[in-house]
Amino acid sequence: MTTSSVSSLVQPLGEMPPETIVFGRTEGMQAVRDRLTKLASANVPVLIQGESGTGKDIIARMIHASSPWRTGPWVKVNCPAIPGTLLESELFGYEKGAFTGAYGMKPGRVEMAHRGTLFLDEISELDLGLQSKLLQLLQDGQFCRIGAQEDKKVEVRVVCATNRKLEQEIENGTFRADLFYRINVVNLHLPPLRERAADIPELVTYFLEYHNRKYNCRAKPLSGELMAVLRKYHWPGNIRELENLVKRYVILGNEEVIASDLRPREPDFFSAEIPVDGQISLKKLTRAAVRELERKVILKVLQNCHWNRKQAARALSISYRALLYKIRDAGLPSNRAIKRRDADSPKQDVAAD
Ligand SMILES: Nc1ncnc2c1ncn2[C@@H]1O[C@H](COP(=O)(O)OP(=O)(O)O)[C@@H](O)[C@H]1O
Ligand SMILES: [Mg+2]
Repeated sequence: MTTSSVSSLVQPLGEMPPETIVFGRTEGMQAVRDRLTKLASANVPVLIQGESGTGKDIIARMIHASSPWRTGPWVKVNCPAIPGTLLESELFGYEKGAFTGAYGMKPGRVEMAHRGTLFLDEISELDLGLQSKLLQLLQDGQFCRIGAQEDKKVEVRVVCATNRKLEQEIENGTFRADLFYRINVVNLHLPPLRERAADIPELVTYFLEYHNRKYNCRAKPLSGELMAVLRKYHWPGNIRELENLVKRYVILGNEEVIASDLRPREPDFFSAEIPVDGQISLKKLTRAAVRELERKVILKVLQNCHWNRKQAARALSISYRALLYKIRDAGLPSNRAIKRRDADSPKQDVAAD
């Protein structure tokens, strides 16, 4: 494919494209592009949902770049990267003397985003207390620095992203339903790459040209056979994984590096399709199935016990420590979220750590 035909696949992103986005031709991404053009100028919150590596960051930056606030600040907050105790002061700032060590006033990122875009990445990581503060911001544009007497007003366009199913988090009691409706005024669902197989050749061509240029290489287009393999692959890391494969190919210069990097698909134990042909490991399958069952049971019992973990441990006939370990191991809601929730509803019996 020539450079000109590649550039025709690439959509311009307003005046200053943050990076090139290949929308391709599959339905899911066409729907995303249609919505993007419609929402560009409207100051409404946007929720971007999609698995890791599907392009949530790049789309969020494009929303900013094509909005009337593109000359204003672009402020990104990667929620899981900031420890829970710091997140509130990072987001909302604090006044002098608000807590030990607050020697001066510090504005938060919400304020820094005034007349621009605030991008909250992995929004499900906000605990319930911070979720209420964010709700207030979205409802009336007001927030309060820690230790301040009065609320402040800001104008910000809020864009949130998550790779989790927030509906499930609401059911688990770790995400506020009212906040969900507020941030979800416009929803963009980025399809996983395995559902965009028809776009893979365009993406490969784009990344090939891009990395050839960047690393001053001359890697040739991929063979038809390898392209056919890539179109069938399940892409657990989505576009990020595809880009990394092409990058390695450009640098190392042979197709074998791509083929050897493709990971076998993890079987889905609860679907009707348990792979019984070819080589299977009964031990591995059973272990994973047991873990999944355990996760479900623990979640149910925790909900029944209103997240009182001591009570839940008794109900499950395991030690409190074992339960804490299992909660962490199963990736169930963090202690942080649970504690906040308990703190929000004082009537509930809170288990101490
Ligand atoms: N549609 C796309 N076109 C071109 N590159 C993309 C596209 N979507 C994602 N990428 C690239 O894939 C990588 C992962 O994207 P990112 O936006 O960080 O994903 P996420 O935030 O969903 O994990 C980045 O290098 C990004 O530039
Ligand atoms: Mg991201």
